[in-house]
Amino acid sequence: MISVRRHNAGFCRSHFIEHIHRQVARTISDHHMFDAGERLVLGVSGGKDSLALWEILTQLGYRVDGVYLHLGIGEYSSDGLRLSRRFASERDLSLRVIDLGTEHGFSIPEAARLTSRVACSACGLSKRYLLNEAAAEMGYDVLVVGHNLDDEAAVLLGNVLRWEVDYLARQRPVLPTADGGLVRKVKPLLRVAERETAAYAVLRGIQYEIEECPMAAGNTINRYKEWLNRLEEQSPGLKAQFLFGFLDRGAAYFPPDPPELLACGECGRPTPGETCSFCRLKKVTVLRIARRSA
Ligand code: FES
Ligand code: ZN
Repeated sequence: MISVRRHNAGFCRSHFIEHIHRQVARTISDHHMFDAGERLVLGVSGGKDSLALWEILTQLGYRVDGVYLHLGIGEYSSDGLRLSRRFASERDLSLRVIDLGTEHGFSIPEAARLTSRVACSACGLSKRYLLNEAAAEMGYDVLVVGHNLDDEAAVLLGNVLRWEVDYLARQRPVLPTADGGLVRKVKPLLRVAERETAAYAVLRGIQYEIEECPMAAGNTINRYKEWLNRLEEQSPGLKAQFLFGFLDRGAAYFPPDPPELLACGECGRPTPGETCSFCRLKKVTVLRIARRSA
């Protein structure tokens, strides 16, 4: 029996799986994420969320391709790639691999060390850039990401604690297509908590990367997740109320005000400034790598 306290419900194996499928199907339709004929690509890490989501969408009848970003984070990256490849080949799904080292000349640990940036921030901006670039270049209509309820609630908490109004305006289940090459980005796992994606993956026999990213230990989002979990223990359902209350009643106070996008002077991809943040990160990191080996 799997209990979901915020729904005040317990499920057997098959009803739990159905419940998760229903939650995702409802999220896709409530937020008009995509239509049956659109081309979908999913950002895959080898972790429970992305592999569970790939399975759920496939079970719901969608054809979804995957893209794996090799970020050069030691065994964590190689295990993630191995598990993603195995998942895709067992189900005859297409997986494209983008290697940050081979294609751009640096890894996330190098970028973090050589620019004194927090690893997760260098990683986050690289992922956003590379996933969008891959989706746009391969002609997909929609980029699907595996952010779950816990991820979104923790990001919301961080944005509220600092009143990051620009980020609050962008915290939506669907980020629409924009001229110049921004592909629509959607989050179908919004209604599924982290422990539920793990339970789903186990029940479906999915082997996923269990280790957390070593670069993310102690990061702020993980701390917010712990705080929210403590509140959730005392008041089941509070995390979902916080997130869905914001989306239903709070988000309207933070209307999106998308900046005018220009073409990056280096790579040509859309950016609000002259050079996009990925090209700036890449330039500094690659330069410092070259200096060190000179
Ligand atoms: Fe991005 Fe770990 S996966 S810092
Ligand atoms: Zn650029």
